[in-house]
Amino acid sequence: MRTLADIRSTFLNYFKENRHEVVASSSLVPANDPTLLFTNAGMVQFKDVFTGLEKRSYTRATTSQKCVRAGGKHNDLENVGYTARHHTFFEMLGNFSFGDYFKEEAIYLAWNLVTKNFALSPERLLVTVYHEDEEAANLWKKIAGFPDHKIIRIATSDNFWSMGDTGPCGPCTEIFYDHGESIAGGPPGSADQDGDRFTEFWNLVFMQFEQQADGTRINLPKPSVDTGMGLERFATILQGVHNNYDTDLFKSLIEASTELTGTQAAAYRHSHNVIADHLRASSFLLADGVMPSNEGRGYVLRRIMRRAMRHAHLLGAKEPLMYRLVDRLVEVMGTAYPELTRAQAMIKENLKLEEERFRQTLERGLRLLEEETAKLAPTQALSGEIAFKLYDTYGFPLDLTQDVLRSQDRSVDLEGFNAAMAAQKAAARAHWSGSGEKKDEQVWFDIQQEFGASEFLGYESETAEALVQAIVVNSQTVAHLSAGQTGDIVFNQTPFYAESGGQEGDQGVIHFANGAQARVLNTNKHLGSLHVHHVTLESGRIKVGETAKLVVNGQRRQGLRAHHSATHLLHAALRRHLGGHVTQKGSLVAADRLRFDFTHTKPLTAEEIKAIEQEVNLQILANTAIETHLMAAEEAIASGAMALFGEKYGDEVRVLKMGQCDGAAYSIELCGGTHASRTGDIGLVKILSEAGVSAGVRRLEAIAGIAALDYLRSLQEQISKLSFTLKCPSVEIPEKIDLLLQERKTFERQLADLRQKMALGGSSGTTVAGLKQIGHINVLTKNLVDIPAKDLKPLVDQLKTEVKSGVIILTSVVEDKVALVIGVTADLTDKVNAVDLVRAGSEVLGGKGGGGRPDMAQAGGSNPTEIPAAMAAIEAILS
Ligand code: SER
Repeated sequence: MRTLADIRSTFLNYFKENRHEVVASSSLVPANDPTLLFTNAGMVQFKDVFTGLEKRSYTRATTSQKCVRAGGKHNDLENVGYTARHHTFFEMLGNFSFGDYFKEEAIYLAWNLVTKNFALSPERLLVTVYHEDEEAANLWKKIAGFPDHKIIRIATSDNFWSMGDTGPCGPCTEIFYDHGESIAGGPPGSADQDGDRFTEFWNLVFMQFEQQADGTRINLPKPSVDTGMGLERFATILQGVHNNYDTDLFKSLIEASTELTGTQAAAYRHSHNVIADHLRASSFLLADGVMPSNEGRGYVLRRIMRRAMRHAHLLGAKEPLMYRLVDRLVEVMGTAYPELTRAQAMIKENLKLEEERFRQTLERGLRLLEEETAKLAPTQALSGEIAFKLYDTYGFPLDLTQDVLRSQDRSVDLEGFNAAMAAQKAAARAHWSGSGEKKDEQVWFDIQQEFGASEFLGYESETAEALVQAIVVNSQTVAHLSAGQTGDIVFNQTPFYAESGGQEGDQGVIHFANGAQARVLNTNKHLGSLHVHHVTLESGRIKVGETAKLVVNGQRRQGLRAHHSATHLLHAALRRHLGGHVTQKGSLVAADRLRFDFTHTKPLTAEEIKAIEQEVNLQILANTAIETHLMAAEEAIASGAMALFGEKYGDEVRVLKMGQCDGAAYSIELCGGTHASRTGDIGLVKILSEAGVSAGVRRLEAIAGIAALDYLRSLQEQISKLSFTLKCPSVEIPEKIDLLLQERKTFERQLADLRQKMALGGSSGTTVAGLKQIGHINVLTKNLVDIPAKDLKPLVDQLKTEVKSGVIILTSVVEDKVALVIGVTADLTDKVNAVDLVRAGSEVLGGKGGGGRPDMAQAGGSNPTEIPAAMAAIEAILS
């Protein structure tokens, strides 16, 4: 038997041998198309290659592409599990030519693969072509030798494929398999074509045009090829079964769910089908970063998960079931899709969490539904109000309720449901207007009501395409923004992180599809869920509805990630070294620095800072993976995750685990920020300062990553400069500075000595120059320059010993001030008081009195020119 794995690899190898590049499946979240909810065809990742916008190193490619069709334009959800061929998740095999080969080689390659490698009998095959495509019809005649009746011309859009309202498109030819007369159904294009006899399994699109938004079509730069073969469907043909769920891969998944629930596959066919299909969709979406939520893609995922979980309940599962099926899924698909294996633990964790949560309301909701339907006549529709109550209070997505009612042949009154939803929104709005919130927030409330939350793609990616939902200037929505204008833009989805939790918002650029370009100066969050891009439009003009490519400044983001992860490590280290009383009081995470405020009553010692820094850097060097988990808030906090007191958390929180210590995570914190993938990505953490900010709150400032390197580099530059100036190797700088300081002290002392000597006029010994006698008192007067006031007293003392008995009067002019010091030898203090003398002098010098003791007094003044007059005044007292 040809297993799905075998078919997949045979297909890819065949095209590889025919010089095609084997390209990995792209993410289920399209990176290049804001209008698509999920990747829904193999060509999605090549859209821009077809239009010539993007160049690749190859012109032929082949893929096995993960696809999801749910929630968006192609919504197959309600039929999944009940029909033979519908899936939410499926694999599309394809080969692509980007201006390389065209119709002839495409048909030849397909025909050859199907009839030779897969050995399908040509008798069983037939094709359709677009009614105007004579060339394709002739090629089928030539290559397959088909007679006219095996080439069915179709005039409808069935044979003209387009990706969406805009984008690459072209006529196509489809290959069908005829199961034979025993199966009911007619050939394509006939009245009973929907029967099972003829199965379409391969669509070959001849990409020739690009559909423009204004309805016109332009030629692609080069005619190209895009083919798509549904793997599950093709497998039914090769395995001789009529239902996709009877192929090997599904049989294996269903075997697992029957074993775990102890139920028969046949008796609960639909439930097992739903579970197998939804297990694939949920697991692959989770692996691609989609998380269950109440908005956008996350809500589609939640709907798929809960729909399966209701069927698990139907099968009597007493415990959460879905997560226990993941190992089997990884066994059968993990080799082809390594991302599934990598995310295995995370997928299980999230499935389990969602199922545990949903089980809390599922039974009560089902009981309500039973009571309500009991009141209804057979097949009477359920009221929209009850369906809304189930949605709002019990977490039943509308399609889950519809799925329950399906077996009763009952529908839901959709008008009533929508009315109840609208009424709830109106009530929320009325409550909002009445709540006195700031008026300029009203605009954000209205935008949020209309469009819901912005979908944040920035954990996975730094670029994304998005659709402009609203433009706001001066708190008012506007239709346009023109070059030079500054305003705020809300997109349906964005990779830009909006400032929160201390982490600064992202900056970057926006390239609009119409050629306009904007610079994102900052990104803010409004009402907890709207990412608002504050931009300056640098060129062009844009309007609501425009599509654009959003590009985050990656280097800056890298810095933000390193600093954010560094704060978590610092927080953990602080608690370990200072004690569990340490809690975060606030933080700033920028691209080039961080600030962390925490409770602690005293300054950190140098040893503490060193030990904390050391431990953080050892965690960085260990380079362990940083893990993110989504958990129920209570569960996360119970598991020891550090949460900020007083902070509001949603039902589900992101939990960051970082580092390793004694077999456990070094740090566990609730956090919505963007982080490094491994601790080693932080590079290095350097603490710059520690200080108090308020009573009991300390602040650490630190740098990480490249910023830390820049800092060390600047230190090194300063040291080099010093080393150059001091003319010594850098290790000798401290010694050299000590030496210089010592020399300086010596010079100062020598300078003071010299000044004294100069002041003393070189005198020493028995005669003192300039000594005169007033009355019977020896008086020595010296008027000096530039001797600091503090040096005058020692001078007076020295002169006293030289004169032995007498009065010493010194003045010194420094700049435009004059100092006066007068000393009286001990034998004379009962006759002459130094204090009286300086007061007399100070008065003349314009000073404020002065003071001291009878044997030594000093004063200052601001009139140096009055020195002779002051001397005269003092001498007058002495005489
Ligand atoms: N794009 C086409 C399809 O999805 C062929 O790959 O059917």
